[in-house]
Amino acid sequence: MQDEPEDDSRSRVVLTRSLPDGPSRRLARYVVAQVWREPDPPPDAWLRESCVGAAGLLATPADRVGEDLLLACPTLRVVSNLAVGTDNVDVSALTRRGVPLGNTPGVLTAATADLAFALVLAASRRLVEARDAVLDGSWRTWDPGFMLGLELSGATIGILGAGRIGTAVARRALAFDMHVLAWSRSGRPLEGTGVERVEMVGMDRLLRESDVVSVHVALDASTVHLVGAEQLASMKPTAVLVNTARGPVVDQRALLDALVSGRIAAAGLDVVEHEPIDPGDPLVHLPNCIVLPHIGSATVATRAAMAELAVDNLLAGVAGERLPSCVNPEVYGD
Ligand code: GLV
Repeated sequence: MQDEPEDDSRSRVVLTRSLPDGPSRRLARYVVAQVWREPDPPPDAWLRESCVGAAGLLATPADRVGEDLLLACPTLRVVSNLAVGTDNVDVSALTRRGVPLGNTPGVLTAATADLAFALVLAASRRLVEARDAVLDGSWRTWDPGFMLGLELSGATIGILGAGRIGTAVARRALAFDMHVLAWSRSGRPLEGTGVERVEMVGMDRLLRESDVVSVHVALDASTVHLVGAEQLASMKPTAVLVNTARGPVVDQRALLDALVSGRIAAAGLDVVEHEPIDPGDPLVHLPNCIVLPHIGSATVATRAAMAELAVDNLLAGVAGERLPSCVNPEVYGD
């Protein structure tokens, strides 16, 4: 059950998940936290009722923060999202009302890039299929034609979205001796040392030439189904698609068709269009598709760092100070 706020002169904030001990204790020194502790996300009605009179809200990608909530809860001075992505929040509605939105960039880059690369390896080398062969007894002998996959060394990876995580995946790919192509809406080259060999290209060329395509764009109106039937059709039949960004960036129905028909070879997905995916969904049962439960940033160290930054954002907003990581700095007149 959720905690009841005590009678206290401190501001009250609402958390839709409990946090690790360190950031929780820090929060408790300054504010009274009302925390939803059930395994499923809180119902909209609980969120709305709890946020009435609250000064701040700490939400996760599983919570929808829309204009309706802001209208019902005009005392909210800050929303702090425990994620780098903010597609679960109506950012323009917050900005119109002068409510700053915090997120957690940077601290989750390495963990998410690691998971993207784990999916690149797993899908390319058919790890789940191979494990299934051990479990179901179809592994009979050492067979030179058994479970052949894609060799990463010398192969080409195309990174869609050249932000922090895309750049970190590019670094990992270079260490595996891959050729790295990248595309971003701005066309600006990747930043930082070690990525000078990455070639910025148009999306058509990236899709045509890549053996692996890894998706790292933020979700907004312009990136919904950025990878659809047409894009999948332009990929190599041996290609692997990995998505650790947001599910709706890839047209899931078109992907299912492409995987079933062999239009592309395999996919590794940490995100899907509707989460959690129905365990009966055919995508989950394809031998050439690995679906994970949105665990890109799920390491002990990264989740602790995200919680610290989300608490920093929340406390700053409650105190009327500038958020250390603010998605809509326009609220400060920038
Ligand atoms: C998680 O998906 C995030 O956006 O941080």
